[in-house]
Amino acid sequence: MRVAVAGAGAFGRNHLRVLRELETAGLGVALAAAVEPDPARAAEAAAQYRVPVYSSIDELLAAGLELHAASVAVPTVEHHAVASALLDAGLDLLVEKPLAANLAEADDLIEKAEKHARIVQPGHLERFNPAVLAVEPRLRRPMFFEAHRLSVFTPRSLDVDVILDLMIHDLDIVLAFARSLVREVRAVGLPVVSPKVDIANVRVEFDSGCVANFTASRVSTERVRKLRFFEPRQYVSIDYARRDLLVIRMDGNISPEMAAAPAAGKADAAALGKLVAVGPAPGLSFVKPEVTPGEPLRLEIESFLNSVRTRRVPRVTARQGRAALELALEIQSTMAAHAQRAGLADFFKPSG
Ligand SMILES: NC(=O)c1ccc[n+]([C@@H]2O[C@H](COP(=O)([O-])OP(=O)(O)OC[C@H]3O[C@@H](n4cnc5c(N)ncnc54)[C@H](O)[C@@H]3O)[C@@H](O)[C@H]2O)c1
Repeated sequence: MRVAVAGAGAFGRNHLRVLRELETAGLGVALAAAVEPDPARAAEAAAQYRVPVYSSIDELLAAGLELHAASVAVPTVEHHAVASALLDAGLDLLVEKPLAANLAEADDLIEKAEKHARIVQPGHLERFNPAVLAVEPRLRRPMFFEAHRLSVFTPRSLDVDVILDLMIHDLDIVLAFARSLVREVRAVGLPVVSPKVDIANVRVEFDSGCVANFTASRVSTERVRKLRFFEPRQYVSIDYARRDLLVIRMDGNISPEMAAAPAAGKADAAALGKLVAVGPAPGLSFVKPEVTPGEPLRLEIESFLNSVRTRRVPRVTARQGRAALELALEIQSTMAAHAQRAGLADFFKPSG
């Protein structure tokens, strides 16, 4: 299977690397071409991967190469233009998250994919995080989620705000786990360094009564990637960065030792560590489920290529990508309404 990569920027380079690794491992895939308009990045990709690098999608398509699929890793605002042209050319696509910049563009991609019977898998790579894969069989009835995704500032992905840049990962995961329609959104977000929202806190309530709190920041002093969720008699803590998880389960009635200890839900890492060190209190079990190691991006690309080969529905569908985008856009308009109410609208104007 011959695959191209559109966009050889910060993340496109990872697609190039993984595709070449799969090719070298003899897994039936060949990195056939790249598209990158920036001359320096194009030259770097051509030298490192020894592939033809074209300066535009038109140039790639005019070259008449045999191609079956492509990764689209261009800035989000360009997803629709690039993905549409590649779909029209008959390629199956792995489109980086978010699927598109707005719902009209997402709908158009879904329609084109259906018309041409092509696969469009949005790049929600946390679905392939080994910790997420390990938690799925343990899911019971999650009723409360707490997601933290904090990054140190880097001047990239500034074409979108922190919701479309970072929070969209957790929105997709929580939508997949909660399996219920959104009833209500409350949100606050502020621009700090860029003219777009750089830090946000969001509360989503679902029809099922499940509630999810999301915090995302790209102006933090530390990098955090955590999702904690609570179910009746079970607490699960996922660390996406460490790719591991901890499950605390009440199997019986609460013991006197447990009653004296901090509540698991409020416990910080040190307190949890103490609880673990104390050993399983009667009625309470701490499980660190086995996680099959793997790089999420590699697992995602392998899964996409498998769908291309078998024509099976991908693990993350374009409609799920649209659902995450729809929630992200609702969050954006809720944040804008809050900014108006709070007299913060001026902060959203570019400074200088
Ligand atoms: N899955 C993840 O965890 C993850 C992480 C980072 C970025 N991303 C996504 O990847 C995409 C790219 O992000 P990035 O950080 O690499 O951005 P980037 O700006 O570093 O790279 C984008 C590259 O695309 C090129 N480009 C622009 N228009 C193009 C076009 N029409 N055709 C071909 N190339 C074009 C640019 O020259 C640039 O080199 C974004 O959608 C972003 O949301 C996903």
